[in-house]
Amino acid sequence: MTPLTDTTFDLKTYLRNQKQRVEVALDASIEAGYPETIYEAMRYSLMAGGKRLRPILCLATCELLEGTEVQAMPTACSLEMIHTMSLIHDDLPAMDNDDYRRGKLTNHKVYGEDVAILAGDGLLAYAFEYVATQTQEVAPERILRVIGDLGQAVGAAGLVGGQIVDLASEGNADVTLETLNYIHTHKTGALLKVSVTSGAVLAGADDAQVNVLSQYADRIGLAFQIVDDVLDITATSEELGKSAGKDLAAQKATYPSFWGIDESKRQAQHLVEEAKADVLNCFGNKARSLVALADFIVNRTH
Ligand code: FPP
Ligand code: MG
Repeated sequence: MTPLTDTTFDLKTYLRNQKQRVEVALDASIEAGYPETIYEAMRYSLMAGGKRLRPILCLATCELLEGTEVQAMPTACSLEMIHTMSLIHDDLPAMDNDDYRRGKLTNHKVYGEDVAILAGDGLLAYAFEYVATQTQEVAPERILRVIGDLGQAVGAAGLVGGQIVDLASEGNADVTLETLNYIHTHKTGALLKVSVTSGAVLAGADDAQVNVLSQYADRIGLAFQIVDDVLDITATSEELGKSAGKDLAAQKATYPSFWGIDESKRQAQHLVEEAKADVLNCFGNKARSLVALADFIVNRTH
């Protein structure tokens, strides 16, 4: 019998190598230019580090479906541009009013609120331009589908919808588990989902394969958020590179507030086991990077 997981897969080396490739591609994606301030502010947050999980997921599913890095890298970069812009805006005084992100001062703390808003807008617009103009060796209808999927993940049916319900729920003691699930499947889950599915679409996956990957993404997306909520309580600000303990301070409903810490960890682990089984059943050992990435999500410490 084939073992369920390939224990020879070296996740640490894989993550280091993929992150390095993504960093190089991101660095080349936006050059300094005129007007200097806006390019500097966009690059400040885009190049501030981070796990680069979304690009890595996109590259992993493209590879799984026998696609190439050339096909997926522009979309991988655009996912990170979108993620970065959402964090710039999330940190603004009008939203979460945070001073640190990825261990550095937030964009508005360095450049001011006006520039930070525009840096986010600039990154968002450029993300779409970048997929449309830089994707190579992919049929135009597949590129169009990715652009449409990205738009859906970002807008009111995705990140924006999740964020607005999140903001409206702050300080509300009556938030239900259903609302909490809505917030997270939209605010975090939607972009993680398109990170996973876009790599597959670019590589030429069929609908059945995209559906399996979509389910995998839903599960790791939710597990990711549960772990995020737990870490907000158990990790230090130094470990997280941003202020810890904010959820409690802002009286936010979180998974630990419904289930407690131990049950939250158990639920996240269960989701990850289901996600791994989904992709192993469909793709076998070829899915070992996705299996390892799912484990990474639940075991991460920051
Ligand atoms: C972090 O959540 C924030 C997000 C995952 C996304 C927020 C989305 C927006 C601000 C909408 C952006 C606009 C567009 C057009 C996409 P958190 O505050 O729970 O986590 P944190 O502790 O890392 O700040
Ligand atoms: Mg925030």
